[in-house]
Parts: sequence; C-alpha cells; structure tokens
Amino acid sequence: MEYQAKELFAKHDVPVTLGIVANTPDEAQAAAEQLGVVVVKAQVKAGGRGKAGGVKLAKTPEEARAHAEAILGMEIKGLRVNRVLIAPAASIEEEYYFSFLLDRANRKYLCIASVEGGVEIEEVAKTNPEAVRQTPIDAGTGVDEAKAREIVADAKFPEALTEQAVQMVLALWKVFVEEDATLVEVNPLARLAGDKLEALDGKVSLDENAEFRHEDHQVFVIRDEEDPLEAQAKDKNLNYVKLDGSVGIIGNGAGLVMSTLDVVAYAGEKHGGVKPANFLDIGGGANAQVMADGLHVILGDEQVKAVFVNVFGGITACDEVANGIVGALDILGDEATKPLVVRLDGNNVDEGRRILNEAAHPLVTMVDTMDGAADKAAELANA
Ligand SMILES: Nc1ncnc2c1ncn2[C@@H]1O[C@H](COP(=O)(O)OP(=O)(O)OP(=O)(O)O)[C@@H](O)[C@H]1O
Ligand SMILES: [Mg+2]
Repeated sequence: MEYQAKELFAKHDVPVTLGIVANTPDEAQAAAEQLGVVVVKAQVKAGGRGKAGGVKLAKTPEEARAHAEAILGMEIKGLRVNRVLIAPAASIEEEYYFSFLLDRANRKYLCIASVEGGVEIEEVAKTNPEAVRQTPIDAGTGVDEAKAREIVADAKFPEALTEQAVQMVLALWKVFVEEDATLVEVNPLARLAGDKLEALDGKVSLDENAEFRHEDHQVFVIRDEEDPLEAQAKDKNLNYVKLDGSVGIIGNGAGLVMSTLDVVAYAGEKHGGVKPANFLDIGGGANAQVMADGLHVILGDEQVKAVFVNVFGGITACDEVANGIVGALDILGDEATKPLVVRLDGNNVDEGRRILNEAAHPLVTMVDTMDGAADKAAELANA
C-alpha cells in the first residue's frame, strides 16, 4: 500500500512525507488537526484511486472527516477501502512518472520514466509513446551514478532538478534491490514549489521468494486485506492461488498443476464453460495431513463444485499418495462433501489404484488418464 511503500522509501532516503494512517473519520480529523491542509487518500492495492474519487483535498479537519467518511467503505476496483492516508497537501508544480520493474520477457530489469506523469501512464504510452522512456537495466551491473544520469537525461527532467533526480533514481534503485522488490513505482514524482522533488505516491511489490531474508517485511502483511482462503493456505505453507472457477485443483509439482489448469479449462468448454477454481501444488511427499490441509482449503471455497486430484508419482510413490487421500478423507470426515476425481500415474501406480479401489470412498472417482479425469471433473462441476 502507498503508506507502506512510503515507509520503505523513507528508509532508503527517497524524499517523501509520511503522513498519518486513519481507520475512522475521527482519526482522520485528529490527523488533520495535526497536519493542517491535507489530502485524504484511500489505501487499497490498486491504481486509479484518484479517478475513483478516493483522493480528496481537505482544507479543514472537519472537511478531512467528511472525506474520510465518504472514502472509508467505498470500493475501488472491487477492493474495499478500510483505511485512509492523511497526507500533508503539497503544492505541486509538475508531475512525473518513474518506475523500476522486472521485465520477464527480456530477462532484465526495466526503468520507465516520463515527465508526463500524474495521469495514467498507459494513456500517455498510447497517445505520446515518445514521452515514456524505457531503459533496460542489466541485473549484473544495476544502476550506478552514470546510469542514473543517463536515465535522467533521456527522460528530460528539467535542468534545475537534475541532481535531485539522479539522487532519487539511485535511492529508488536501492529500494528495488535491497528490499527485493519486483516493482517500485512513483506516480506522481512531483516537482513542488521551490524546485523540490518528492515522491507523492508509491507502489511497491515485494518478491515473496525473498521473504526469508526480510523478516521486517512481516509488518506489511495486513490480515484483513488478504483473501481468506489464501491466508489459510499460507498458514499451512501451501502453494495456493485462488482463481475464479468451480473445479478445485490439487497436484504435485508446479508444472503439472499448471498443465492441469489448462486441461481443465479446455475440458470445461464442453461442460458449460466451467473453469479451474485454484492453483494448488502440494509438492512432493504428499502425506495425509498435507492432502487434508489442501482439501480443507479447497472445500472451503464456496465456488468449488468438484475437485480434481492429479498426481504423478515420481519420488513420492502413488501408494503413499493414495494412502494420503484416504487418510485425508478420514481426517476431514463430514467436511468432505464434494466429488473428488483422482488421477494417479507413475511410480507404483498399481498399488496406489488398488488402495483407492479398496477404500471405495463414495465421493471418489478414479480415472486413469489426465484428459479423462479433467473431463470427468468438469462434468461433475457442471452437474
Ligand atoms: N500529498 C498530496 N498533495 C497534493 N496533491 C496530491 C497529494 N497526493 C496526491 N495528490 C494528487 O492526487 C493525484 C492522485 O494521487 P495518487 O497518485 O496518489 O493516487 P492514484 O490516483 O491512485 O494514482 P495511481 O493510479 O498512480 O495509483 C496526484 O496525481 C496528485 O495530483
Ligand atoms: Mg498515483
């Protein structure tokens, strides 16, 4: 969120004004009493807040209170606003755009800078592409002072701001590298009265794979802003992403799960357009508890109508997985209410299938092939 991004900016000496976070109109008013003329800003993880009416100037504390009343509880791009940032109003002369991001397609980082900032940068890119400057950054060499100067000159920042802009670029690069970010975006990067450059907004995406070396990032997790199913999965160390469909998916190995999503979406075309409900990779060593944890999360998803368990036995043999499924259904008991289509193949498959056949659980259908199982799961979800 903006206020968290600004905390990271301040830590790395990016010029920024922190402001005060408010959860209620009362708190907003109290903050404005301290700060004077303020801007009340919706805190949600989405862009275009200003356009949606989520950024409002308040000249008095009473006005700040009224704006907070209107903004708190409103929805922006499907996200409910639970807190606002009360930021001291700045006197803006010009607005610029600046970001560092991961450019997967080119296997590099990318710097995007434009002196035509403030508004939607996507719009500027369409109508005036020359004004949006892109500079590829080699991960090995990164951004040193020479590179920062090149970026600033290429974007045509006003001369009076050159030195500040160079320092700003270097500081934002530090945020990007030292915090293990995949995106650091400032829009607007503002030229304030007196030729002062300041980050008036901020957006940072942190790389979850680097969480282990950033214990201090824990403070950025806001429970009430997370998807409840994803939060539950995270607690159980499951690799889960909620999607929009009705076929729950469990598989072992990210590649297998990704292709399972594809075959289910494809099979779904013949069954009323049903789609996968989630990504869930339970990894190797699928014991009963892990299987039960995964099923528990998936069955907790109201949209799920059927579940497809797709396992290829490699290091983990199919008989262990089969025992895991049987054990999981035991653990879940009455909670298991939706049909399960199981496809097992690979190491020790015969023994695995024998175990499932013998258990003869009424909710479980075994199908030998991946395509056949996807079709069955889609059919059941559509029934
Ligand atoms: N502290 C401030 N003082 C004065 N004006 C501000 C302040 N913060 C923001 N603004 C104005 O409000 C506009 C929108 O604010 P901001 O960029 O923070 O939100 P946004 O609409 O969500 O932008 P984005 O789509 O980039 O996320 C800015 O372009 C700026 O003109
Ligand atoms: Mg912005």
